[in-house]
Amino acid sequence: MKKKGLLIKNASELVTCSGFKAKQGKDMMDIHVIEDGAVLVEEGIIKAVGKTEEILDKYDENDYDVIDAAGKAVLPGFVDSHTHLVFGGYRAEEFSWRLRGDSYMEIMQRGGGIVNTVKATREATPEQLLEVGLNRLDSMLSFGVTTVEGKSGYGLDLETEIKQLKVMEELDKNHPLDVVKTFMGAHATPVEYKGRTDEYVDILINDIMPQIAEQNLAEFSDVFCEKNVFSIEQTRRIQEKAKELGFKIKLHADEIVQFGGAELAAELGAVSADHLLQVSDKGIEDMAKAGVVATLLPCTAFSLKESFAPGRKMIDMGCAVALATDFNPGSCFCESIPLVFALATLQMGIRIEEAITALTINGAAALDRAHEIGSIDPGKKGDILILEFPSYKFIPYHIGVSTVEKVIKNGKLVFDKKKGGRTC
Ligand code: NIG
Ligand code: FE
Repeated sequence: MKKKGLLIKNASELVTCSGFKAKQGKDMMDIHVIEDGAVLVEEGIIKAVGKTEEILDKYDENDYDVIDAAGKAVLPGFVDSHTHLVFGGYRAEEFSWRLRGDSYMEIMQRGGGIVNTVKATREATPEQLLEVGLNRLDSMLSFGVTTVEGKSGYGLDLETEIKQLKVMEELDKNHPLDVVKTFMGAHATPVEYKGRTDEYVDILINDIMPQIAEQNLAEFSDVFCEKNVFSIEQTRRIQEKAKELGFKIKLHADEIVQFGGAELAAELGAVSADHLLQVSDKGIEDMAKAGVVATLLPCTAFSLKESFAPGRKMIDMGCAVALATDFNPGSCFCESIPLVFALATLQMGIRIEEAITALTINGAAALDRAHEIGSIDPGKKGDILILEFPSYKFIPYHIGVSTVEKVIKNGKLVFDKKKGGRTC
């Protein structure tokens, strides 16, 4: 008999992260744990959540495919809300230069860095990008990621920006993970406009962005707002135009120097401002007031040997903090969710519960999707993780190692460590 859906029962902890919007400040501690919990999914959507006993009273388990999660914690799928996952080539050589003391910006200024990857991405075929992209998504899935954001910005010309975004569209269609697309033509000035950044900004505004919008290729617009990259004024121009064209706004803000990026994000009504290593107190206050999600990327700070963003302070000042990997070929060639947890909890003073909120409901909010993912609530997508261990506390306790045993996407088992990985 065809089953009505999936029932997960007997979870030692069902961590629902319940909520439909970003959690700010103290509310980030509220992860809502149900002991001996059960969750029922029908047609990909969560239908009921509660104690196992209550759920079994109301529903006949014979009607469902059943997973017995006894002795295991169950959580919402992780949302990695900031990555640059489609790119050609690698930059291992530059990594070795950084280890001997060169800075990220020095390498960028002498013609390495982002423009290096731009060259390789322009040369790559869509098929090549798709193939490596699928492998990268498999790795993310193994860490429990069920939705990932990806940015363009390694094309810096219309043709290659479109190529990157279309590859992301294909990845979304051909892989269980959901891929959310962000246009980031203002990631660097391309070599053909070297020294003429204002002219490149004009091209973006007048030519490239309207075509990206018309072809409906991206939901968000992001800018690398940083000294010697795109100024506050240039960023404001680009993002005002982006809003006019219907994009939602993100910013790479205050990463290397304090630059007023967080303040600008609040002024623009951005959905998120990301990095924020050098954010000012005024920037934190502005973000908290405007409800901008502060997305912190500790693996990048770690990889660049920089000090971490003041995550503890941001939460104490009332911000909604999200955590993400920033997976990219330069500043952070790392898609490891376990490393994000390790750094956030052991190095940034973020509590385990806050880190979980940051990777679930707040990650969803950073993608304007808190109404449909990021928690185990009726009506949301059935994106659910089953851990190998009885408590969510094992996530950072098992330092740097994934504790995810099973991943359920839209109510379907798509990853099972015990069966060797991806199951469909
Ligand atoms: O988020 N900061 C700017 N952009 C990326 C790095 C991209 C690269 O180095 O290729 C980041 O860290
Ligand atoms: Fe980034």
